[in-house]
Amino acid sequence: MTNRKILVTSALPYANGPIHLGHLVEYIQTDIWVRFQKQRGLACYYVCADDTHGTPIMLRADKEGITPETLIAKVWEQHFADFSDFGVAFDNYHSTHSEENKQLSAMVYTRLRDGGHISSRTITQAYDPVKEMFLPDRFIKGDCPKCGAKDQYGDNCEVCGATYSPTELKNAVSAISGEKPIAKDSEHYFFDLSDFAEQLAAWINADHLQPEVANKMAEWLQSGLQQWDISRDAPYFGFEIPDAPGKYFYVWLDAPIGYMASFKNLCAKNGLDFDEFWQKDSSTELYHFIGKDIIYFHALFWPAMLTGANLRTPTAIFAHGFLTVNGEKMSKSRGTFITARTYLEHLNPEYLRYYFAAKLSAGIDDIDLNFDDFSQRVNSDLVGKVVNIASRCSGFIAKRFDGMLSAQCVETELFQQFISAAPVIADFYESREFGKAMREIMALADKANAYIDDKKPWLLAKQEGEEQALQDVCSVGINLFRLLVAYLKPVLPALAQQAQVFFNDEISSWVDSLQPLLNHKINEFKPLMTRVDADKIAAIVEASKENLEKSATVAAVKQFEAIADTISFDDFAKLDLRIAKIIKADHVEGSDKLLQLTVDIGDETRTIFSGIKSAYQPEDLQGRLTLVIANLAPRKMRFGVSEGMVLAAGPGDKEIWLLSPDSGAVAGMRVK
Ligand code: MSP
Ligand code: ZN
Repeated sequence: MTNRKILVTSALPYANGPIHLGHLVEYIQTDIWVRFQKQRGLACYYVCADDTHGTPIMLRADKEGITPETLIAKVWEQHFADFSDFGVAFDNYHSTHSEENKQLSAMVYTRLRDGGHISSRTITQAYDPVKEMFLPDRFIKGDCPKCGAKDQYGDNCEVCGATYSPTELKNAVSAISGEKPIAKDSEHYFFDLSDFAEQLAAWINADHLQPEVANKMAEWLQSGLQQWDISRDAPYFGFEIPDAPGKYFYVWLDAPIGYMASFKNLCAKNGLDFDEFWQKDSSTELYHFIGKDIIYFHALFWPAMLTGANLRTPTAIFAHGFLTVNGEKMSKSRGTFITARTYLEHLNPEYLRYYFAAKLSAGIDDIDLNFDDFSQRVNSDLVGKVVNIASRCSGFIAKRFDGMLSAQCVETELFQQFISAAPVIADFYESREFGKAMREIMALADKANAYIDDKKPWLLAKQEGEEQALQDVCSVGINLFRLLVAYLKPVLPALAQQAQVFFNDEISSWVDSLQPLLNHKINEFKPLMTRVDADKIAAIVEASKENLEKSATVAAVKQFEAIADTISFDDFAKLDLRIAKIIKADHVEGSDKLLQLTVDIGDETRTIFSGIKSAYQPEDLQGRLTLVIANLAPRKMRFGVSEGMVLAAGPGDKEIWLLSPDSGAVAGMRVK
């Protein structure tokens, strides 16, 4: 049992966006599990990486005017900092754009090809003739073939819910260039998944999957396995296929191999034996923690690829559900699309670790972050129950006994009760029933508090001749508190760290091997955790709405970046550019970017929201002339409808300059 060697992964987050609270469900869940295994003394390694390849990352780099390499390096830093600050302690955090991954991907592919599992044929796809690239579904937009809703992406309509193929979209255009896509042929490479139908059928019934997941797999198997398209044409940010110049591995081919690559990189750093973990029939254990949206890739493609490449398959795949916030999908406009960084700017990360632990089970049900419930649980469990035990006892030990704990434990039975919960709690951790583990631990905390309520050290402290009793009771309290900290250490590593300083003693093993601290000098007690401040939660929601505003600005900027090199005179003539007089300028409540302008454009007055607050005071704008686009389609913003746009130049912040006409111009004049 102690010989177990375990390799654990979390899914590799895409390098095209920030880590948000939804992601953190997974990384916190995995981290707790790994920390628990390590605390029990097992050899457990936790690796992850950024998932860096694919079209969205390539296009985003393009838009930002940087290379994909620069983009992914920047995002790696941000992801890594977010994880570290949430206490997610990877043994290695790598990148799929790495030498190890390139080599391993080539190896897996070559083995599959030599085994006869790769075939090629020509397929026809939508192609952007301007951008000169094939268009993934999500980069084609048009009108829904069912309900006619405009501006629907790819293969499903957000308005009526219809699903269709992108070729059925009416008035389809490329979301990149705005051009009408053409149909174009190209040779693609396919992985013949059906070659592994038998192995997969056996695999899904051999306890590697949660029951819900195994059922889903069985359905997929039943409906027949399709060939999987593993190649993409240039331009593509990824690895070129070794024997097919100009063709690249589809991102989902090299992404799971990224697990191996990150581990290989770790092996080189600390002398672990890579093959021992990955060779066929390895006796080590391999676990992948993933979200339920990517089961197909991990439970079908991945074991088939590994089998075909003569490598070991995963011991188990642990899927979890999705995070909702206050009962709904995370939403930018409601301020519930919360990034890891925004959270960290306001609240203690361990609140969230505990809250997720309290809500997590071994199943794939979605989990809800409800802010009231969040505050209440953290305040009542961690602050009110756990930390409170130490606050109730430590003062007496410090003041009356110079920090010394009693030489004997007067409640061996109670102490023993706490110890004997260890196997049950360990089982809950091991089986990812963290919610149940937290409930057991809180039941113990209740017992410790009941003990203190019963013994009333504050009364003993006032009675003569009760010195010994006072020291004994408080020592019991602190020793029980220490066991609770030991149980919670996988969930609350930072709190445990501070508590260990207080105990003047390390907790380096699982709880069943702990002895009471006797005749032991402890350090001064400092408050280990404070109550959740409701204002901070409100601030997070507000700040997350701000993100929305920023992203509206980014979207606007992107639209400008999409401007074609040349436009026809007719295009230019479509613009209704006019001199306007700003008759009123106001702050917009709740926005630190926008000013609300009331402008006179000659024949009417318009309301325009403009992101110029960083550069202008409202009072300085009143009465001045500027230029506006008067025939821009009205845009609904969070604060109201903006009926046009004022023209300004500059990089942003303080450096924004409104354009203005020479003297003599009056409101309403058209630019010609
Ligand atoms: N890059 C792929 C994974 C490749 S693994 C070889 C990917 N990346 S992701 O950034 O979209 O998601 C990373 C992980 O976070 C996935 O397991 C995903 O399920 C999980 N989550 C993303 N949003 C989530 C929620 N809202 N809630 C819970 N988990 C979520 O998929
Ligand atoms: Zn529709």
